[in-house]
Amino acid sequence: MLEGKNIVLGITGGIAAWRACPLCIELSLVRKANVEAIMTENAQKFITELTIRSLTHNPVVCDQFERPTAWDVKHISLARKADLFVVAPCTADVIGKLANGIADDMLTTTIMATRAPVLLCPAMNDQMFTNPIVEENMARLKAHGYHFIDPAEGVLAYGGTGKGKLADIDLIVETIEQLLASENA
Ligand SMILES: Cc1cc2nc3c(=O)[nH]c(=O)nc-3n(C[C@H](O)[C@H](O)[C@H](O)COP(=O)(O)O)c2cc1C
Repeated sequence: MLEGKNIVLGITGGIAAWRACPLCIELSLVRKANVEAIMTENAQKFITELTIRSLTHNPVVCDQFERPTAWDVKHISLARKADLFVVAPCTADVIGKLANGIADDMLTTTIMATRAPVLLCPAMNDQMFTNPIVEENMARLKAHGYHFIDPAEGVLAYGGTGKGKLADIDLIVETIEQLLASENA
């Protein structure tokens, strides 16, 4: 069902960035989607571009100002090519940028340029997730048609428990399939 679909995966700088790896394995290697990843600069402090490139078999875009090998304005070409965007994990920072029209890196610029469905999978400390400004930003994005999968309850990186873990990979994959099916219906 995902075979041949063009999925742009945004990876941002949260502790759950490593879980983008099993998501890549499921989407790209198991279900044969064409996954093109964009990593924020801060995501690269948590996991490497090499890992994601190896799991998607595609170059990973990190810098919107890098010199292209062939003439191509990458944020526009990816924005047009995508059947769907998924950002997993999605930081409070990227939610805030998208909700406020800030496009200051490759990921936020490309999302702003797309008409494809965008699925955001927040993961953060539970108190960040319930911060009223983060909640307002999410509500604003939902009102503009962005899709969300709430984080799960569980043990968080600081050692306590709460709602902030990246949602289950199976749920993310299932939601992607549903969104793509409803686009084609
Ligand atoms: C160890 C560590 C873990 C972090 N985990 C998260 C997280 O899970 N979620 C989040 O929203 N921010 C987290 N942050 C804060 C982000 O890294 C910070 O907001 C950063 O600016 C995000 O950059 P990006 O959104 O461009 O990727 C963490 C920071 C550190 C140092």
